[in-house]
Amino acid sequence: MRLLHLTDPHLTSLENQSLAGLSAKRSLSYLSWRRKRRFHHDRSALTDLTESACREQADQILVSGDLTHIGLPDEIRAARPWLESLGPPERVMLVPGNHDLMSRDSWGPVAAHWGDYLHLDPHQAGGTIQDAFPVVREFEDVVVIGVASAHPTPILLASGSLGEAQLERLEAAARGVRERGKFCCVLIHHPPVPGVVSRRRALADAAALESLLERQSVDLILHGHTHRNEEIAVGGRMIYSTASASSVAAHAPAAYRVIDVERDADGGWQVEMTLKCLASTDGQHRRLELVEQTRWHAGP
Ligand SMILES: [Fe+2]
Ligand SMILES: [Fe+2]
Repeated sequence: MRLLHLTDPHLTSLENQSLAGLSAKRSLSYLSWRRKRRFHHDRSALTDLTESACREQADQILVSGDLTHIGLPDEIRAARPWLESLGPPERVMLVPGNHDLMSRDSWGPVAAHWGDYLHLDPHQAGGTIQDAFPVVREFEDVVVIGVASAHPTPILLASGSLGEAQLERLEAAARGVRERGKFCCVLIHHPPVPGVVSRRRALADAAALESLLERQSVDLILHGHTHRNEEIAVGGRMIYSTASASSVAAHAPAAYRVIDVERDADGGWQVEMTLKCLASTDGQHRRLELVEQTRWHAGP
């Protein structure tokens, strides 16, 4: 099975947005976008990367959130066509990021406009963000579990948490995957282990999640939020983050990962990870480059 991971496209524009009427939290984030963040993201880079990603013919495209900047209902609506450009919901899976759920009024529009790509259970409609997760998608040899680490936080924080109830449901879901002898992949916005980002931006219950992932032998964790290409190998499992899908930052240009998972003869898995990025040749023309290709063995 071929998975493709991309993340943090931050694809909306706040060009016509004014400060008037924005909450203090959104105002600060908006000013940060005006001063810096808008120069790091480029819509045409995202379009180029998306077209290349679609040509990889992945069975599932996994998107780990931050489609917007300040989670305004208009931004959430405006991001929908990009999701559709990736493919139909059956071939795309999304979890929300902290920018998408910046405020209490973000979850309703996220559930309404992205619900089919989040694969929300319609019976959960009306509940809280974390009531709706984890989302478990079962394929022939692979199970992908999406969790919601993002939720509105106080001003100056970009942290997240899963909460005890979601952790309990995640543990039960991951245990079931192991019992059925399938490959288990978890999709999350925030880094799932402590120490990757500052406390201000971290998952509050990362230590509990880290031990859960180890206990249940989760094979692969894909996350966003850092806007960097990073990998952590721990106890036979791989944790990957990928640069923002719209980034034009020289140190971490727009990128995606292709992950091929195949069952091998001894009941484990052969996994091949290919990282590709959109390198700029002269500041204008971009070319897709293979950055890294690694193989590893997962499972027993
Ligand atoms: Fe982000
Ligand atoms: Fe984020």
